[in-house]
Amino acid sequence: MTTSPTTAPPEGLIDALLQARRIVVFTGAGMSAESGIATFRSADADTTQGLWAQFNPQELASPDGWRSNKQRVWAWYEGRRGAVLKTQPHAGHLAIAQLADTLHRVHGHAVQVDVVTQNVDNLHERAGSLQVTHLHGSLFAPRCVACARPGAFAPGEPDESLMHLEPPRCQHCGGHIRPGVVWFGEAMPQEPWRHAEDAVDACHAMLVIGTSGVVWPAAELPINAHRLGKFVAEINPTPSGLAQYLNLQWPSTAAAGLPALIEALKKRVA
Ligand code: APR
Repeated sequence: MTTSPTTAPPEGLIDALLQARRIVVFTGAGMSAESGIATFRSADADTTQGLWAQFNPQELASPDGWRSNKQRVWAWYEGRRGAVLKTQPHAGHLAIAQLADTLHRVHGHAVQVDVVTQNVDNLHERAGSLQVTHLHGSLFAPRCVACARPGAFAPGEPDESLMHLEPPRCQHCGGHIRPGVVWFGEAMPQEPWRHAEDAVDACHAMLVIGTSGVVWPAAELPINAHRLGKFVAEINPTPSGLAQYLNLQWPSTAAAGLPALIEALKKRVA
């Protein structure tokens, strides 16, 4: 069910954010949709993926896929990285980056906003968010398969037309550099997960933006927040499967709703 998005921030959401001193912003693919990056499961999901439509995602995003054809896997991820670099953070990303400062100006108290994202793009960082935890890794965090040290990309812009590209070698040990994204069949890295759980434990309010809430264990975060009695609000034009764990569902989009929310918070002081 897709309802017509509204940009009038609910009063209950404004009140909850004004009272919060720790806020978790939990985002999914819908957060990047209005920057032009397709989601996975919603109506605008890009099932074609052009050149790569002939491949099963498991052939491209799995340890087996990597073992059988490193050059194809590296080319696919470099193409995705190139596509992300051609996009820009939208007003919703900027609004999240401004949330802590906006609230501080309104009530004079320090506020900590922790962004926990399922996305592998770098749009939150490019919008200025400082505390960004990537549960599923990042296109911008390649690492050596042998020594796990961070890897370096080849100089220049990635060429999205390539379907075969030799991955770089580790400058420390000579091992292959792999994408820094969590693959099918791989466990979620424990450090980001623990950081996310700690942020949820410590928060007063959680914004759940642009996720269908069907992928585990990430979907546990809003559920745990609800169980811990936190205020949980969803911003999504299509209500997700998390309805029973929400204090509030706002049928809006990230790029329209979040800037309107920032403006509404500012009005509370004027
Ligand atoms: N603003 C807010 N939400 C939006 C927007 C928008 N402009 N456009 C779409 N959405 C919502 C959709 O309604 C949907 O609920 O974003 C959600 C996208 O859901 P998914 O495509 O399932 O993406 P996500 O929930 O992030 O998937 C989780 O699954 O495939 C794995 O690792 C992948 O991180 C991903 C995980």
